[in-house]
Amino acid sequence: MALTILLGAQWGDEGKGRVTDLLSEDADVTARFSGGDNAGHTVTVGTGAQAQTFKLHLLPSGVIQPRTVNVLGNGMVINPARLRAEMAALAQVGITLSPERLKLSHAAHLITPAHVALDKAEEEARGADRLGTTGRGIGPAYTAKISRGGLRAELFTDPEALADKIAAHVARVNQTLTSQYGAAPLDADAVASEYAEHAQALAPYITETSLYLDGRLKAGAHVIAEGAQGSLLDIDHGTYPFVTSSSPTTGGVLTGLGVGPRYIDRIIGVTKVFQTRVGEGPFPTEAFGAEGDRLRGTGANPWDEYGTTTGRPRRCGWLDLVLLRYTIRINGLTELVLTKLDVLSGLECVRLCTGYRDSAGRLHAELPFGPADLAPFTAEYEDLPGWSEDVGAARRPDDLPAAARAYIDRISALTGVPVSLVSVGPERSQIIRL
Ligand code: GDP
Ligand code: IMO
Ligand code: MG
Repeated sequence: MALTILLGAQWGDEGKGRVTDLLSEDADVTARFSGGDNAGHTVTVGTGAQAQTFKLHLLPSGVIQPRTVNVLGNGMVINPARLRAEMAALAQVGITLSPERLKLSHAAHLITPAHVALDKAEEEARGADRLGTTGRGIGPAYTAKISRGGLRAELFTDPEALADKIAAHVARVNQTLTSQYGAAPLDADAVASEYAEHAQALAPYITETSLYLDGRLKAGAHVIAEGAQGSLLDIDHGTYPFVTSSSPTTGGVLTGLGVGPRYIDRIIGVTKVFQTRVGEGPFPTEAFGAEGDRLRGTGANPWDEYGTTTGRPRRCGWLDLVLLRYTIRINGLTELVLTKLDVLSGLECVRLCTGYRDSAGRLHAELPFGPADLAPFTAEYEDLPGWSEDVGAARRPDDLPAAARAYIDRISALTGVPVSLVSVGPERSQIIRL
C-alpha cells in the first residue's frame, strides 16, 4: 500500500468528500493537506430513514470510516473554533476523535477572528472586483504565513507564547482594520482567552505529522491525501486572481504533508460530468437561463448546486475538456472519477467542450497561457445524444444506457485518462466500478 492522492479536477465541489469516504474503506490514514474550512465536503451514508449526511469542512472525509487515523497537515489553515465544533457534531453521532484517531500538524497555521474580519473587510473594499471568497479568513491566514507573521498550531503547547503572539497579532490587524478599512477593532483580550481555551482542548492532538505519515507509509499503510477546493482554484495554476490562497494540486500534497513523492501510487482526479463554480471569475462553458437552471436544480434535492459552506447558488455549465486536460497535466492524474452522472438523465443532448476559439477565430485545444484569462475564448462543443433513463440504481457499466456509456468513453478518449469510477447518486452504494 502507498499514498493515494485524490484531487478536485475543476473549481471545487466535484464530490471529493464522497469519493474519499468510499476509498477510505480500505485506508489506514486519511489526510488533508491544504485549505481550511472554506471546504465543504458532503458524505451520505445509508438510504431512506437510515440516511445520514455529514458535512465536513476541516476533518478529512475518511473520518466516518471507523478504522482510519485522520491527519490535518501542515499545509492547512485551521480555525480551532470550527474544528472543535465539527468534532463535537461528530461526537453527537458516536464518532469520537481521540488523539489516537486525529493528528493536527504542529506546523499548520491558525485562523483567528482577526483573519476572518480582514477577509470580510478586504472583500468589501474590492467592490466590483470582489473575488467572492467564503469569508473564512483563508486569504489573510495564508498571507500571514507567507509573510512569516503567522501563528502555528504548535503554539497550543506553549500557552504563554500563545497569549503574547495573539495579543500582538490582534493589535496589528486592528490597526489595519481601523485605519485602512474603517472597520471596528477586535477585543484582543477576548481573542486571547478564547484561544487559551482552544489550546487546552487541542494541545493533545498536536503531532509531527510528517514523521507520523512517513512511519506509517514505511510500514506499508495506505494513506489517502484528500484535496480541498479544486485545481482551478490553485494559487499558481488556477484562474488567478479568482483562486484560493493555497495549492490544492499534487505539488501541494508533498509540501502540505511533508512527504516525498516516492510513496505516490495513484493520483485520482474527481470531476463532475458537468462544470460548476462558486464565486467570481471567467467560465467559458457557463450555461445561462433555463439550461443553467436545469443543471443547477431547484434546491429541492440535497445535491442541487448550492454551496455546502456558503449556501450560494453555484454557476453551472457543460464539462470543459480544455480545462480538464489542463488539470490532468498539472497534477499528473493517473485516473478520473466522474460524479453526478444521474443529474444529466433526461437531457436530449449532452455537450462536451473540446476546444476554445479566440477572438481572431483560431481554435485552441490547449490553453496558450494557462487559465488565468479565459475571457477571450468561446467554447467549441461536441454534442452527444442524451439518455432519458434514471441511472441512480445502476451498479455495473452494463446497467447504463448506451448513450451514457458513450458519453463516459468519449470523456476518457478526449482526455487520454482512464475513468475508474462513476457515481450515480450521493449515497455510498451509488457507484459503478469500470
Ligand atoms: P466536495 O467539496 O468535492 O466534497 O463536493 P461537495 O460535497 O461540496 O458537493 C458535491 C455534492 O454532490 C454533495 O451534495 C454530494 O452529496 C453530491 N454528490 C456527490 N456525488 C453525487 C452523484 O453521483 N450524484 C448526485 N446526485 N449527487 C452527488
Ligand atoms: P471544496 O473543498 C468551491 C472558492 C470561493 C472563492 C474562491 C476564494 O468544497 O471543493 P477563499 O475563501 O478560499 O479565499 O475563496 O475559492 N472556494 C471554493 N469553491 N469549493 C470549495 O471547496 C471552495 N473553497 C474555496 O468560492 O471563489
Ligand atoms: Mg464542497
